[in-house]
Amino acid sequence: MPPWTDRKGQLAPFKLVVFVALFLPAIWVAWQGWQGDLAPKPVNEAIHQIGSWTVRLLLVSLAVTPLRSIVRWPRLVDVRRMLGVGAVAYAVLHFFLYIADQGWDLWRVASEIVLRFYLTIGFVALLGLVALGVTSTDGMVRRLGALRWNRLHRTVYLLTVLSLVHSFLQAKVDVTEPVLMTGLFLVLMGHRALHKRGYRGLLPLAGLAIACGVLTALVEAGWYAARTGVDASRVLAANLSIDIAIRPSLWVLMIALALVPLRLIGEKRAPVRAQPVGRTSRA
Ligand code: HEM
Repeated sequence: MPPWTDRKGQLAPFKLVVFVALFLPAIWVAWQGWQGDLAPKPVNEAIHQIGSWTVRLLLVSLAVTPLRSIVRWPRLVDVRRMLGVGAVAYAVLHFFLYIADQGWDLWRVASEIVLRFYLTIGFVALLGLVALGVTSTDGMVRRLGALRWNRLHRTVYLLTVLSLVHSFLQAKVDVTEPVLMTGLFLVLMGHRALHKRGYRGLLPLAGLAIACGVLTALVEAGWYAARTGVDASRVLAANLSIDIAIRPSLWVLMIALALVPLRLIGEKRAPVRAQPVGRTSRA
C-alpha cells in the first residue's frame, strides 16, 4: 500500500503532506547545487546538508511518541514509520554522496571507513539504521514477533547517539548544530524517562526543560574546552548574551519549555479521565 494511504487503503491527507515534506530538504539541496550555491565544493556541501537532515529527521521521528502523549493526538503515530524510513533514506543518500565524492572508488571508501574513526562510527550507525528500515514493515513485525521487534527497534537510541558523535567528530570548529541536536535528544530521552516513571505533569516538563538547557550548555563548553582549549567559563558565559546569536542551550530551553503550553492544549483537547486510586501520575 502506498505510504499516503490509511489501513483501509484510502488517501490520508496528513500522511500525504508528511510524505511530500520529506522530499523537500533533498530537493532544496539539489536546487542549490543546480544554482551553483553549493560552490566551491558542491558534493562536500551536499554531504554536510544531507547529513544534518538525517540527524534532524531521526530526532523528528523520535519526537513522535512524546508529542503524541503531550498533545494527546494519537494520529501522530501514523507518520512515525514514514519519518523513520525517511531518515534512513537520507542516511543512505549521505553515504552515496560520500562515495561520489571519493570518485566511486569503493576500495578507497572502505579503507577510509576503517582508518577514520568518525567514518567508522557513521558507517555503524548507517548499517544499524538500514537494518531498522528493512525490518520496519508489518510483515517483519509479524515474523520477528512484537517483543523481539521492539527490542531491535529500541537500538535507534544508540544509533542516534552514534550519529551525534559522528557529527561532533567531523566538525572542524563550529559544533553549534551537533550541540543543538544533542540538547534536543536529551529532551526526548528525559521525557521518555519521566513518562516511564509516571511524572506527567507540567512541573516535571518545566524542570526537564531547565535541566536539558543547562546540560546542553555544559556539553558545548566541555567540547570546546577539550577540543580547542578554550576556557569553559567563557563558553558558558556566552549563553547569557544574545547579542551575537542565540546559543544552542537557549534554543533547547525554549523548545522544551514550549512543551508546557502544548501539554495544556492537549489536556483541553482530550482531558484524562479520573484514574483508579493508586495509579495517579505524579506532579
Ligand atoms: C546514520 C549515519 C550517518 C549520519 C546520521 C550522518 C550525519 C552527518 C552529519 C550530521 C554531518 C555533519 C553535517 C554538518 O555539520 O554540516 C556529517 C558529515 C559527514 N559525514 Fe556523515 N553521517 C552518517 C554516516 C556517514 C557515513 C557512512 C559516511 C561515509 C562513510 C559519512 C561521511 C561524512 C562526511 C565525509 C562528512 C563531512 C566531513 C567533512 O567535511 O570533513 N557519514 N554526517
